Amino acid sequence: MTAGSGFFVTIEGIEGAGKSSLSKALFERLSLHGREIVVTREPGGTKLGDSIRRVLLESEKLSDRAELLLFEAARAQHIDDVILPALGRGAVVICDRYTDSSIAYQSGARGIDAELVEELNRFATNGLSPNLTILLDLPAEVGLARQTKVDRISSEGIAFHESVRRGYLNQASAEPQRFVIVDATRSFDEVTREVTGIIAAKAEVRL
Ligand code: TYD
Repeated sequence: MTAGSGFFVTIEGIEGAGKSSLSKALFERLSLHGREIVVTREPGGTKLGDSIRRVLLESEKLSDRAELLLFEAARAQHIDDVILPALGRGAVVICDRYTDSSIAYQSGARGIDAELVEELNRFATNGLSPNLTILLDLPAEVGLARQTKVDRISSEGIAFHESVRRGYLNQASAEPQRFVIVDATRSFDEVTREVTGIIAAKAEVRL
């Protein structure tokens, strides 16, 4: 499936990479330039997604398989209710986390077979792939030191988050035409400026 007349961007990275602050800043910088900008996030973005998010992050115990399926269920609803309608209107959709999070976390770090995760990703999204994926890359120890919140997944140890990072970097080298790797150890302003420029150029938003 393609993004139609819209443009679909995903932002990925480990904990503390700055994805949510960046998404907010991108909305402010890219709006009012003639194209609708929709910023959303996974898991969440729908009522069902918000409920699943609470289960995922607050449950004391969850099997790895249940975790993967819950992320995919939230993703399927989010695609139908938010992402596809917005792309259909011709919007630029910026999504904080998407299918690569499942590859990096559930396969890279939890060890579930990568082909199986890819198959479930395809099923949940009806095969909708981003036009562009920004990977905010930084060492796990830098990300974890910046982090302010603690939940079931973010409180995993440093080795887990290093595996997540490796999962992302492997994915980026497998699909270099979709990924742009951005050095997220730099200041927030520098990262925001760079990513704004990349999206504006690729999505044809005239700043
Ligand atoms: P969130 O509070 O959004 O974390 P962050 O601000 O770091 O993005 O919580 C989402 C958590 O869910 C985060 O730890 C990553 C994890 N996650 C997965 O493990 N697999 C997935 O497919 C998705 C979308 C998120």
